[in-house]
Amino acid sequence: MTTSGFAYSDCFVPDLPAPAPRFAGFAPFNFVGGHNDPEGIPRQALAEAAARVILREGAKLAIYHLGHGPLGYPGLRDFVADKLTRRRGLRCTAEDVLITSGSGQGIELVTRLLLMPGDTVLLEEHCYTGAITRFRACGATVVGMALDEDGIRIDALEAQLGDLAARGITPKCLYTIPTIQNPTGSVLPLERRRALLALAKRFSMPVFEDECYADLIWSGGAPPALYALAPDQVIHIGSFSKSLAPALRVGYAVADASVLARLVACKTDGGTGALDQMVIAEYFSGNFDAHIARLCALLEDKLDTMLDEIDRQFGTSMQVFRPKGGIFVWMKLPDGVDVRKLVQPAAAAGLAFNPGPDWACDADAAASYLRLCFALPSKAAIREGVATLARVCFEATGVPAFGNNSRRTA
Ligand SMILES: Cc1ncc(COP(=O)(O)O)c(C=O)c1O
Repeated sequence: MTTSGFAYSDCFVPDLPAPAPRFAGFAPFNFVGGHNDPEGIPRQALAEAAARVILREGAKLAIYHLGHGPLGYPGLRDFVADKLTRRRGLRCTAEDVLITSGSGQGIELVTRLLLMPGDTVLLEEHCYTGAITRFRACGATVVGMALDEDGIRIDALEAQLGDLAARGITPKCLYTIPTIQNPTGSVLPLERRRALLALAKRFSMPVFEDECYADLIWSGGAPPALYALAPDQVIHIGSFSKSLAPALRVGYAVADASVLARLVACKTDGGTGALDQMVIAEYFSGNFDAHIARLCALLEDKLDTMLDEIDRQFGTSMQVFRPKGGIFVWMKLPDGVDVRKLVQPAAAAGLAFNPGPDWACDADAAASYLRLCFALPSKAAIREGVATLARVCFEATGVPAFGNNSRRTA
């Protein structure tokens, strides 16, 4: 009921998400979500890029889509096509690229395109919660694919597809984050990429590839994107949220022309913010590789700090999956510890973390997993926050046992 007495709630459609709580600020030790490192924002260079591009092309802001049509700002689509060709092995041009309002919108558009209530979609068993939520919200059933330290286990997937087929189920699509997987940070090897695509072809499934973190890889690079290996069978999405800034809300989708035309038709938002697109294109054309090298160095340094503190505080009681890039550490407490019980005491101690069950197709099976984002907090906050987590965990569960399997000195 509003203050004037009108009962809006009687008018709402059923099955809405729960109302969003009022934002009450971040926890002092904030390890949740996919924020970036504030030190990694090139403020001066962005300001100069903004001034240049506004003075040069700003008059076009008077026109929807800048007068360039719904795929997005041509300068940014050129940049994306060039980046994906150079770094991810795609053969594409600006005509194959649709700029989206973050890769989250890419997930929404592809969900709208492919999934209906009752459909089955395959996901990595530990997977981006935003994808799980969106697929479920449209009435699809999510089925987890088994993972190891290199990503999807192809042997298990083949058996699983056989089992599903025996029950008359053909998954409608396969969603994967093959390069710097969220949350595990793994990179799927080339042979597995080929085998995955062969299975997808055999079972007539489109593959939906999310490369949100592929730019943030520490060293050694990654095999070509799945789209590069099978462009007719893969829808590829990516983002500038992790390589630059999530608050800008700019991502992209690359797909076959027949798919792209449908995605464009589903994108009814009047266009992704044109100024953001212009500034990103202006800054990154020429600067991208140097920017990424600087950002990765910042992030890997924070990762090392976090891993060192986790080891000091938890010792052998925490199984840690060292990510090959990105902004998260995925880890596991001993079986029997349910991290969901730590959320409230952690919040009372000023700490926020992502419980593993939210990042899993089968929540209960991931009860002892958790995810920490190391990009946003300072190194001092990382150390203090991990120590706080260890204390909260010990007080609630007896793990890590101080002076036993923990290497804590204070
Ligand atoms: C795997 C993955 N895909 C997509 C997104 C959505 O990101 P954005 O909409 O900011 O590009 C995220 C955000 O954390 C993510 O982790």
